[in-house]
Amino acid sequence: MTNSPNTPPKSGANQMWGGRFASGPDAIMTAINASIGFDKRLYAQDIAGSRAHAAMLAATGILTSSDAKAIGEGLLTVLSEIEAGNFAFSTALEDIHMNVESRLKEIIGAPAGRLHTARSRNDQVAVDFRLWVRDQCDAAISGLTALMQAFLSQAEQGADWVMPGFTHLQTAQPVTWGHHMLAYVEMLARDKSRFEDARKRMNECPLGAAALAGTSFPIDRHMTAAALGFDRPTANSLDSVSDRDFALEFLSASSICAMHLSRFAEELVIWSSAQFRFVKLSDKWTTGSSIMPQKKNPDAAELLRAKLGRILGATVALFTIMKGLALTYSKDMQEDKEQVFDAADTLMLALAAMTGMVSDMSANRDVLATSAASGFSTATDLADWLVRALNLPFRDAHHVTGTLVAMAEKKGCDLPDLSITEMQSVHDGITQEVYSVLGVENSVRSRTSYGGTSPVRVAEQVARWKTLLG
Ligand code: ARG
Repeated sequence: MTNSPNTPPKSGANQMWGGRFASGPDAIMTAINASIGFDKRLYAQDIAGSRAHAAMLAATGILTSSDAKAIGEGLLTVLSEIEAGNFAFSTALEDIHMNVESRLKEIIGAPAGRLHTARSRNDQVAVDFRLWVRDQCDAAISGLTALMQAFLSQAEQGADWVMPGFTHLQTAQPVTWGHHMLAYVEMLARDKSRFEDARKRMNECPLGAAALAGTSFPIDRHMTAAALGFDRPTANSLDSVSDRDFALEFLSASSICAMHLSRFAEELVIWSSAQFRFVKLSDKWTTGSSIMPQKKNPDAAELLRAKLGRILGATVALFTIMKGLALTYSKDMQEDKEQVFDAADTLMLALAAMTGMVSDMSANRDVLATSAASGFSTATDLADWLVRALNLPFRDAHHVTGTLVAMAEKKGCDLPDLSITEMQSVHDGITQEVYSVLGVENSVRSRTSYGGTSPVRVAEQVARWKTLLG
């Protein structure tokens, strides 16, 4: 290799790959082709990948150690220029890879041209993007841990507070506040494990796959993989440069997580309304109305309800970009990044906002208890009592209870307000003992099956999660 080509590219042609081009691209071609506007976010990963590559090229004798040293140090200078905001990104240089390399050449001269030995932008972008997505998995995992802790504190505080449990948003059975909060801890724990699984699977290094076929240089892919914190190098060079399934897994896990957030967001919107008054949201997470002075709008919750739309949109977009692409790399794949960047930013912001809202919200314990007792919420307890005490088949017990509910509804009272005579007019076996099962406190205390809402079970689960979350 000579230090510089004898025939530099014609004026206007790309300095990096313009050897066979007589003219430069159309301005609109530059606009559609360039990714620097967004892939500059990969600068730290790009420089880390290049430094690992250069060190490996020296260790394997492909580069002299003095060239590798100049490259390694020059790359650190580029890094600090970018971090200080002193770097002039150029659209003509297309992407982050060529921007960094071109600046490196300005700083260290000829050795910069040797950095791209045994490498292509195809494996370069694959490794940069994997490193970036891997960091986002870590960020999601710690964001989820913080949110789980916020739900857990709520659960611990109100382990035995009764509230109505709903199906179809109709009163179903009384449950405990702690149980409801822990339902979200379970969902978020599964979300977390999805990011952990995805991270494990993506943690293989594509660097060294080169353009698509591998390289004839005696590179050490295990060395670069280890230097960048990967478990191992990827085993097939074609696959290495052509798949973005790791990004799709991240987006899929993000979508499921955002869906969970949207469900609690919706509950907060309902619960904080004047009609429900189950919770009070802190002023920090609500806004006022410019015309209606009484209003306190749950804007953060509403936005959190909406964010899945955006994240799922990115997921669908990337699936659609990748669908039907013949192996290996195609420029279509440059469209992967903006989707993932936006989805990741959205998810991290959503997790932080939800954590703040959950930490700052306060449950109206009395309102929850009153509401728990309304809507014939202990009708199932009555039916269960008829089965246990009178040995009625459950279907018959259900029928008797339904008749009693209709009677109470007609009278405009709750089940415990019916007299024993009224009860016995529907089934003569009913005794005074029935009243002991009609209270909401009794109702929740009785649901001691594993995973049930009884305060005893909730306290056990709180203790389990406290150990798990540390
Ligand atoms: N900017 C490109 C991308 O993000 C980098 C890879 C370009 N490779 C190529 N052969 N043109 O996909």
